[in-house]
Amino acid sequence: MSEPTAMTIVCDDCGTTQPELSTRTRCTCGGLLLVRHVPTVTGDALRRRFDDACCARPSRTASGVWRFGEIVQPLAMADAVSHPEGNTPVMHRAALAAWAGIDGLVVKHEGYNPTGSFKDRGMTVAVTQARRLGARAVACASTGNTSASLASYAAQAGIPALVFVPEGQVAMGKLAQSLAYGARTLMVRGDFDDCLRLVQEAGDALGIYLVNSINPFRLEGQKTIVLELLRQFDWDPPDWICLPAGNLGNTAAFGKALEEAHAWGLIPRLPRLAAIQASGAAPFAAAFSRGFDTLVPVQAETLATAIRIGAPASYRRAVRAITATNGVVLHVEDRDILEAKARIDAAGIGCEPASAAAVAGARALRSSGVIQPTDRVAAILTGHVLKDPGIVERMHGAGGLIEAPNRPVTIDPTLEAISAVIDG
Ligand code: F0G
Repeated sequence: MSEPTAMTIVCDDCGTTQPELSTRTRCTCGGLLLVRHVPTVTGDALRRRFDDACCARPSRTASGVWRFGEIVQPLAMADAVSHPEGNTPVMHRAALAAWAGIDGLVVKHEGYNPTGSFKDRGMTVAVTQARRLGARAVACASTGNTSASLASYAAQAGIPALVFVPEGQVAMGKLAQSLAYGARTLMVRGDFDDCLRLVQEAGDALGIYLVNSINPFRLEGQKTIVLELLRQFDWDPPDWICLPAGNLGNTAAFGKALEEAHAWGLIPRLPRLAAIQASGAAPFAAAFSRGFDTLVPVQAETLATAIRIGAPASYRRAVRAITATNGVVLHVEDRDILEAKARIDAAGIGCEPASAAAVAGARALRSSGVIQPTDRVAAILTGHVLKDPGIVERMHGAGGLIEAPNRPVTIDPTLEAISAVIDG
């Protein structure tokens, strides 16, 4: 591959540049930092480079993130902390498409990443950066997936990790991962928004490198969900990309990826973004319905604990993403999220509740006529079904959370009992 692209780190608000090897995740003015690239080639030549990289040796290109390294973090491609990650499948299931009323609905399953969520795409870059900086420790606030991912990548890099999670609000699979991978796991008496405030204070005071999605390198890695998707569509973009939205890092990353891909001639037009929130945690959807006047934080409550967030940190960037792509923001009720999850699960795919919001949202947008029946729609499933076994138990138990639960059956150890189940 050719020499690295030019890369600078600039403040969103005041435009000041930062050195690449800085521990800051915010500018001195308080603004968020952004990585800006100027690739050495564009259009066909750039497309070809990514297509070639897919099959090339050595193993850096085995990562669905570092394959795009020259527009992610060109200075770290040779020494990345990588599992590898990415390379997640796009799937079409007729039953799911029919349920949503959109023949051309596909899902891209980010739950196939090494720790079971899309967070690995940002974390490989952020932890690589932490190692480049010589960080003494890394930290994040999380609803569970970021912390699971950080715990794993920090273990690989040999850097101590500190994770701040809301006590009693993290799904079992995620908490298990943080503990298993060896992160110091702090159960905060409060919600995610409290955790995020606290970790930012701790980062500043104690000199710990923060890897929440306000970290600019997290966004660079998460851009590759979109880049890989576009490649899987042979660079002929779908009409819509639907994704669940909480802290809005991913919405911001998707917008940046699309704007760059368009500006650099990778794609001829922009797909529209649809960011989907849970109704009980929908400050972004509320702001959208008011013409994005201002963000009014809420006290968040939803069964989709991954997106139980009331004061999203990347609000302004996400507004830009929606505006630039002529996108929409909506919210769906928990019962619709669980109904969508039941359909995704029953199709043999499976996902965690927050991910199902993407499909519930696509269906709602089809019902309201915003998405046309012939539109090509990609819904991003952000996390694996095993992340939240507790909700599956509740959905299929006596709780009545979904229309057609698949109840477990207790039987006597006899052939008659099995026959009775088959007949009945
Ligand atoms: N889906 C899943 C499975 C998530 O874990 C998250 C966020 C989102 C969607 C929303 O993405 O915050 O960028 O808008 N999880 C974070 C965490 C908050 O700590 O794991 P977002």
